[in-house]
Amino acid sequence: MVTKPTPDEIGQGYDAFADLLDQLCGENLHHGYWDDPSGDMSLDEATNRLTDRLSGMLPIRAGNRLLDIGCGIGEPAIRMGTAHDIMVTGISISERQVERANDRALKADVDDRVVFEYADAMDLPFQDESFDLVWALESLHHMPDRWTALREAARVLRPGGWLALGDFLLVPGPDGAPAAAARVQEVAKGVLSVVDVDEYREGLRAVGLVPAEAEDVGEYTRTTWSKAAARFEDLREQALQHIDEAQFELTLSRFRGFGAEPALGYVLMTARKPG
Ligand SMILES: C[S@@+](CC[C@H](N)C(=O)[O-])C[C@H]1O[C@@H](n2cnc3c(N)ncnc32)[C@H](O)[C@@H]1O
Repeated sequence: MVTKPTPDEIGQGYDAFADLLDQLCGENLHHGYWDDPSGDMSLDEATNRLTDRLSGMLPIRAGNRLLDIGCGIGEPAIRMGTAHDIMVTGISISERQVERANDRALKADVDDRVVFEYADAMDLPFQDESFDLVWALESLHHMPDRWTALREAARVLRPGGWLALGDFLLVPGPDGAPAAAARVQEVAKGVLSVVDVDEYREGLRAVGLVPAEAEDVGEYTRTTWSKAAARFEDLREQALQHIDEAQFELTLSRFRGFGAEPALGYVLMTARKPG
């Protein structure tokens, strides 16, 4: 049984594999969204499309303060900060990502209102009610406990503020949630915890938020896995400088297995803090 890495291990992993991830994922470390799953939109276009899809679900107003939990190298935050007249703070558990995200904000000429800092989402260094919007795109699955991270997100949201998240989702088939979850665990070899949409809504309510939209967009994001597997295979020589053959094959089998597993969906959700 493989155990989930700690936040420190996650951060060290992102630091160590930064160059490889650049080539595997590009500027966005998240899934792509293909309106036409059989279409030929590139992975880079499709990942920006997912950012736009999720930000389109938020009521963003000029002057808003947005917190990006798990900011990667900053592309979603910079994209939103460029499109809207808002203040963005991004956090990551990877020192190297924070440094690179700040460099990228400077180059994009938005460093006066898009800033990044090192912080753990499980213990946010921000005051209560200090953000209008909180954003977590594909970071919650890394957390030792996504509900603790969401409780922190709810704490720093002002009353009337909005949360948007993108996360893996359990889509139970006819054999039920426990069997579906067991299949996802098997493919993930223990490193991915997923919940279904009802449990997600319940968890959001438990941290004091009111769930709003919830869309399983797995049909539009699934292409990501086959594209990632193909890119990863092309990067074999480079990857083997960091990991051994067994780890390489395990990662490749996860990409392929996730792509083929109907119980693994992808959810875009919003929730509001009452007030
Ligand atoms: C898959 S990447 C997504 C990055 C970014 N949201 C994007 O879409 O490009 C996951 C991100 O979550 C961050 N992360 C994971 N665990 C974290 C934690 N406990 N606190 C803060 N950030 C964390 C990682 O450092 C990384 O930046």
